Amino acid sequence: MKRLLVTGGAGFIGSNYIIYTLKKHLDVSVVNLDALTYCGNLENLKEVSKDSRYSFVRGDITDSRLVEELFKEHDFDWVVNLAAETHVDRSILDPNVFVTTNVLGTANLLNAARRCWEKDGVFKEGVRFLQVSTDEVYGSLGAEGFFTETTPLDPHSPYSAAKASADLIVKSYADTFGMPVNITRCSNNYGPFQFPEKLIPLMINNCLSRKDLPVYGDGLQIRDWLYVEDHCKAIDMVLRKAAPGEVYNIGGHNERTNITIVKTIISLIGERADSSVDERLIKYVEDRKGHDRRYGIDPEKIKNDLGWYPETGFDEGIRLTVDWYLENRSWMEKIVSGEYRNYYERQYGEG
Ligand code: NAD
Ligand code: DAU
Repeated sequence: MKRLLVTGGAGFIGSNYIIYTLKKHLDVSVVNLDALTYCGNLENLKEVSKDSRYSFVRGDITDSRLVEELFKEHDFDWVVNLAAETHVDRSILDPNVFVTTNVLGTANLLNAARRCWEKDGVFKEGVRFLQVSTDEVYGSLGAEGFFTETTPLDPHSPYSAAKASADLIVKSYADTFGMPVNITRCSNNYGPFQFPEKLIPLMINNCLSRKDLPVYGDGLQIRDWLYVEDHCKAIDMVLRKAAPGEVYNIGGHNERTNITIVKTIISLIGERADSSVDERLIKYVEDRKGHDRRYGIDPEKIKNDLGWYPETGFDEGIRLTVDWYLENRSWMEKIVSGEYRNYYERQYGEG
């Protein structure tokens, strides 16, 4: 049995990943360490909460004593570090927590893993630290070309700068101590359990409550969308198959402008839930500061080395996603209150 520590497992990708890995493999047990910040939600993990191979610990990755104790108690073989502050707009409003969690939290996990795994300068056989990073560390593309694993890091937001810093700390533990690590850099995910501050669930929620659809700037920025389960599959393959030290970009060549995404959602909601929803809800608003124009991933390395490929195309994935939100309205309704309402007012100036 492999003992896996997943951090941030109550978030969007983390919960999808825990469900994916427990379903796919019988040889793994999972401890989910999550601080349950505003976006952590244990309801996402209902499906696995009674699985004897799963347990949850509420705690902060920056709490070194707690993390040390967890390593002593569970003697983890693998760490998948997903815990992070993840929203670019929040990082513009309040950068410090991004540095604390994303940089110091990652360093803290590395220290605990090293103390547990290294003896006389040699790391235990089979252990691995997988840092889940993002394509945003590469900065922004012009009209042509894609991010490869050798594209220089050039982050622009406090969020992506903190993620890039964490990547460099992880790399330094490999270079300095010989720690077996991997870094994955995925493009924009979408699917079930995504917090409604992010573009796709925000637009779905606003359509359903007939609120304005705030499009930043000219709406022609481009993101490269990947269905979350395909990201989970990639993390799983890297953890189990990749050579130590390798970095992998993950993406499915699914580039869309933001305005295209918004219009697609309007049309799906119009068709499936409320025929009165239409493009009159679109409202162009002030652009995001330092807004990256285009992201696009070259996934050749992970395809060639590990045989990964995306299974869910965008047309199918976006329909599955809209349907999931329609079928799980109470999940959204519980969120769209409290802290999130305060953030929404600060960001968009309305309740
Ligand atoms: P999310 O915001 O939905 O979830 C983050 C989780 O981390 C939450 O459950 C939260 O409670 C937890 N967390 C935050 N601070 C913590 C702390 N100090 N200690 C313990 N837990 C803490 O994020 P997500 O979209 O699921 O992203 C997960 C990871 O994947 C992040 O590292 C992110 O940078 C990366 N990533 C996300 C995307 C995307 O499109 N969403 C794409 C590429 C990479
Ligand atoms: O590329 C991977 C990254 O994708 C992850 O590392 C981040 O954690 C994740 O949040 C996401 O970052 P983005 O900034 O690309 O995602 P977001 O959903 O915030 O925005 C997507 C695009 O939509 C972006 O160009 C900004 C725009 N947007 C977003 C919101 C919330 C709008 O036009 N209006 C909005 O209200």
